[in-house]
Amino acid sequence: MTQDEMKRKAAEAAMQYVVQDEFVGVGTGSTVNHFIDLLAGMKGKIKGAVSSSVASTDRMKKHGIPVMELNNVDYIPVYIDGADESDHYLNLIKGGGGALTREKIIAAASEKFICIADETKLVDVLGKFPLPVEVIPMARSMIARKLVKLGGRPVWRENFVTDNGNVILDVHNLRIMEPVKMENEINSWAGVVTVGLFCNRPADVLILGTPNGAKTVLSK
Ligand code: 5RP
Repeated sequence: MTQDEMKRKAAEAAMQYVVQDEFVGVGTGSTVNHFIDLLAGMKGKIKGAVSSSVASTDRMKKHGIPVMELNNVDYIPVYIDGADESDHYLNLIKGGGGALTREKIIAAASEKFICIADETKLVDVLGKFPLPVEVIPMARSMIARKLVKLGGRPVWRENFVTDNGNVILDVHNLRIMEPVKMENEINSWAGVVTVGLFCNRPADVLILGTPNGAKTVLSK
């Protein structure tokens, strides 16, 4: 089974978490794209979606799924999103698609966060996937120097601008033993919009697509 087919399995299993007659929070990425395509099949049964990126908004609008501004929605029971890595405590690295800041906002606004991924994303220690950090453009070099002091090797994601008009540094060579501490530290630096560690607000449920179907993982 291909990685994409495993992503599809995870997306299918996430459909059971969508609450009828309510809003659903929708993340970004190739796994979420499968979810959006499936959500189109029940668009008349939900109030609408709150989107974490222009790309997901466009895809949902093409399907005729109503997309609402977060400011106009006061309750989101469930947020569905992918991840680049998850540990066994459901701490995540996200932002491979560059949508980390809006994703973190919707995750924070939602009652339950269901993460969908293929089984290759589950790791013992976060950090093999380069950690994305969204940065205000004028602070790029300063933040890169601070990331080097943390032991990482930041690489500017060139020719990429986030939906918020900022840049991304992808930090290689990290072995993240204390993810909450690292999230708090990097987020405290002036010039950082957000770091792609989702550990203060980890996922509540991880659904992994495997060759044998979808497998649900709860925090250790
Ligand atoms: C986007 C993300 C995605 O959830 C993450 O990159 C996983 O993407 P995919 O589902 O394509 O593997 O955080 O900012």
